Amino acid sequence: MPVTTQQLIQWKQQGRAITALTAWDYAIAQLIDAAGVDLILVGDSMAVVLGYETTLPITLEEMLFHAKAVRRGVKRALVVVDLPFLTYQESVAQAMHSAGRILKETGAQAVKLEGGYPAMVETIARLVQAGIPVMGHVGLTPQSVHQLGLRQQGKTEAQAERILNEAIALEQAGVFAIVLEHIPADLARNITEKLSIPTIGIGAGADCDGQVLVTSDILGLSAKQPPFAKTYTNLREIITQAVQDYAVEVREGKFP
Ligand code: KIV
Ligand code: NA
Repeated sequence: MPVTTQQLIQWKQQGRAITALTAWDYAIAQLIDAAGVDLILVGDSMAVVLGYETTLPITLEEMLFHAKAVRRGVKRALVVVDLPFLTYQESVAQAMHSAGRILKETGAQAVKLEGGYPAMVETIARLVQAGIPVMGHVGLTPQSVHQLGLRQQGKTEAQAERILNEAIALEQAGVFAIVLEHIPADLARNITEKLSIPTIGIGAGADCDGQVLVTSDILGLSAKQPPFAKTYTNLREIITQAVQDYAVEVREGKFP
């Protein structure tokens, strides 16, 4: 049975942890989906495989292209697509247009927008009212890298209270889930207890309702990765070895 947004909320109530990973192409999406991950995020962290330093240059057209490929590979997981920087912050109309294109052209079920400040909460409420499922994202929001850096957020009491209030406002606006990125574990636990929608943590401790990581990080494929990521295999080494073995065999006449 395909995963729905309602299913994620039920899993929170049942205490069943939600698993999420990113995918940027058909091949990886198919593997992740078949392996049973619940939610696949076409994240703008795709910047890392496109050779960008930050997520800022990613365009809506690039997200549409990759989201279509991912969607073709997925049978069960819920597919959520990031709206890239400045394709939703300008106005409700701009956000509606961008999110509408994602849903209509890719077949993905939901979009994710960064930020929980009042204007963004209003925009998200309008998208939800129009029938567009939205995932929130607070704490470290990488599209604000030039203001925040990539540091942990919510370390002071004032910051922690602001992030908690943003999460509550996003729930009231109608998001079906919310990403908590790089915040202290006790703040993430507090938010998770106060919300009835699931929290999906990344660098936010063990007490969220689910976890998300960037797939190239867990596979050891990223050139650099955040301190909270865990590497489950080292594909950089495995790929380098395979390529070297191939080149040697061709040069020595052993293959074909
Ligand atoms: O782009 C991305 O991969 C994300 C996750 C880190 C949540 O937004
Ligand atoms: Na993202």
